[in-house]
Amino acid sequence: MAKLEFIGVSKSYGRNVAVKDVDLVIADNEFFCIFGPPSCGKTTLLRLLLGLVQPDQGEIRINDQRVNALGPKERNLAMVFQNLALFPHMTAGQNLAFPLVERKIDKAEVARRVAAVAETLRIGKLLKKLPAHLSGGERQRVAIGRALVREPAAFLMDEPIAALDARLREEMRVELKRLQRELKHTLVYVTHDQEEAMSIADRMAILEGGMIRQVGTPDEIYNHPQSRYVAELIGSPPMNFIKGTFDPAARRFRADTFGFETTIGLSAPGVAGGVTSFAIRPEDIVIREAADQGSGVVAEVYEIEPLGAYAIVDVNIGETILKVMVPGQPSYQLRQPIRLDFPAGKCHLFDGATGALIAGAA
Ligand SMILES: Nc1ncnc2c1ncn2[C@@H]1O[C@H](COP(=O)(O)OP(=O)(O)OP(=O)(O)O)[C@@H](O)[C@H]1O
Ligand SMILES: [Mg+2]
Repeated sequence: MAKLEFIGVSKSYGRNVAVKDVDLVIADNEFFCIFGPPSCGKTTLLRLLLGLVQPDQGEIRINDQRVNALGPKERNLAMVFQNLALFPHMTAGQNLAFPLVERKIDKAEVARRVAAVAETLRIGKLLKKLPAHLSGGERQRVAIGRALVREPAAFLMDEPIAALDARLREEMRVELKRLQRELKHTLVYVTHDQEEAMSIADRMAILEGGMIRQVGTPDEIYNHPQSRYVAELIGSPPMNFIKGTFDPAARRFRADTFGFETTIGLSAPGVAGGVTSFAIRPEDIVIREAADQGSGVVAEVYEIEPLGAYAIVDVNIGETILKVMVPGQPSYQLRQPIRLDFPAGKCHLFDGATGALIAGAA
């Protein structure tokens, strides 16, 4: 049971700003992901929570109590690191029991907790094996189990499955989600894999250079990015961007390099005009017959990437190449003229200078 909170937290190493002005509340019982590129401060946020480093400014709170002055043991949070270090000379069972033995908990209680955790993680059959005789996924489970036996207030995990192969990672993230639901514990999970964050998080925070750029559910982040930075970071293939100018009075966007103009509904009154980027996700663009009348813009099929259940069609309009995702295997010819439609509710407009959202999908 733990609500975790950062209030105005900053941390620098010399001139290097690791975390800056972070305000964040992670609710009790939440699966919360921290996502961002290398060196953006993800691990530092966990170390601040854990009590391994002190903030230069601001407060860390656990269940509404300021814990800045408390050491890691008193905070009772369990951390699973990326490089999980199991003791090689101990069996999986002894590794699981270790944090309890170290705390001098009595033998019967240790046995009870190890058995309970082994059952939850489905590793009962592995307890007598040495780490060298376990697969990567099995070792990972034992490492997670070692955090579970302590019955901590919350779990912090720093890219705990990044070292596993792709198939195993997919399995493990389903397991972790199931585990977190069953245990009803707060779990703060760091990853630089956007698909992983999107698939397991109840909510997520997106970081850039130590600052939080957006916090929300995966759906909010994906469908309502508040900045170009977030829009570019989430989604594969990434969002398409078209550079142009925006006239707020007429609510008209006009592309720089080809004859595309469209009316845009504003998300806030009084926004600035000028250089902007029009953005739309590959799966939101609609391809129609070139001869169709009405809205949209005529383009040409440039390349097709068949990917089984869907295909990516690269289309060009003048110098600009856009990616369109279509279900199944389309039968377009290369260089075939087509018409592209950009449904109004799926379009976003970002300020050319700041990258802030000017108008977004309703
Ligand atoms: N102990 C330290 N001493 C000096 N600089 C540090 C220290 N720890 C982190 N930093 C710096 O703070 C910044 C944030 O580091 P952090 O480890 O939190 O990033 P991260 O998001 O976890 O990166 P990665 O994805 O590579 O793990 C980086 O520029 C890093 O070099
Ligand atoms: Mg890190």
